[in-house]
Amino acid sequence: MTIDLQQKIYIAGHRGMVGSAIMRELKRRGYANLVYRTHQELDLTNQLAVQNFFLQEKPDQVYLAAAKVGGIHANNTYPAEFIYDNLMVQNNVIHHAFLSGVKKLLFLGSSCIYPKLAPQPMGEEALLTSKLEPTNEPYAIAKIAGIKMCESYNRQYGQSHEVDYRSVMPTNLYGPGDNYHPENSHVIPALIRRFHEAKINNAPEVVIWGTGTPRREFLYVDDLAAASVFVMEIKKEIYDQQIDPMQSHINVGFGSDITIYELAHVVKNVVGYHGQIIFDLSKPDGSLRKRIDSSRLNNLGWQAKVNLDKGLMLAYKNFLINFASAKSG
Ligand SMILES: NC(=O)c1ccc[n+]([C@@H]2O[C@H](COP(=O)([O-])OP(=O)(O)OC[C@H]3O[C@@H](n4cnc5c(N)ncnc54)[C@H](OP(=O)(O)O)[C@@H]3O)[C@@H](O)[C@H]2O)c1
Repeated sequence: MTIDLQQKIYIAGHRGMVGSAIMRELKRRGYANLVYRTHQELDLTNQLAVQNFFLQEKPDQVYLAAAKVGGIHANNTYPAEFIYDNLMVQNNVIHHAFLSGVKKLLFLGSSCIYPKLAPQPMGEEALLTSKLEPTNEPYAIAKIAGIKMCESYNRQYGQSHEVDYRSVMPTNLYGPGDNYHPENSHVIPALIRRFHEAKINNAPEVVIWGTGTPRREFLYVDDLAAASVFVMEIKKEIYDQQIDPMQSHINVGFGSDITIYELAHVVKNVVGYHGQIIFDLSKPDGSLRKRIDSSRLNNLGWQAKVNLDKGLMLAYKNFLINFASAKSG
């Protein structure tokens, strides 16, 4: 299959962790006509501004990686913003992409769309089978609506307008561009920051909540970016063999998980911290296991490449360049 590297591709959220990784991957593959806007230049919750942008730029493809994203604390504190902003961003982008003639679009979701008690590992078919985790329900509902938007546009306009909108659901991501906020970051950036700070302050110990026994899956963000472009490039006939029109999302995982205990020790080694790790057993653990089943994507021919040791080394290097001097010590 020849791929047109001159087609115009809009990356929404190109300054975020995922959007910037997708941009790197597209450039690496030789795509030469990329368009993007910062949040300040184009607020994607503003319908008129989004409409004008699409009418002006008329991209051929869209990667929708703009979203309001955050950890448990942010999701609990700002549930209204999480549901409103995400629904508005995705409704505006998907609808105006369609109206301006975009045939291919990739919607970025998240594994939090799956029910709290979904069987492990969580396959795509677990969607909408039972209740969601309450803390991020508003965010997850928006993401589920995004998948259903893509499916509905495919079903209504697939034949008449050749619309082919796809969705990927990544597991926990980490890597360059991650959020290292002290209260509001995910587990890997939080551990990197805490071990780094303990190292430079010569702190004797780092305390981690819980028993360390829960298992989690982590994917290096450049792997997700490679998977995203891979999914967009798959021929429709082949893609359609793997998906169902009303269950069309594709999981993107690393393929194996690790305990928080093991993760903490790997991060400690990568950072070069020599103190103790203490697990505070009085604190809650969260779900014991959360892994997605990526066999649908694996069957299409894609596999993650960057293992945790290498990914964490690259993430720490990026942290040192961008964050350490400004935010620690
Ligand atoms: N991070 C993860 O572990 C993870 C895991 C699974 C799935 N995902 C998915 O990947 C996608 C991107 O996540 P990320 O981690 O890359 O998040 P991120 O680093 O916060 O990036 C999101 C980007 O979207 C932009 N944005 C947000 N609201 C906007 C608006 N109203 N108008 C224009 N731009 C707006 C943000 O700009 P500002 O910063 O200027 O607001 C930011 O550049 C999300 O859909 C998320 O669900 C992420």
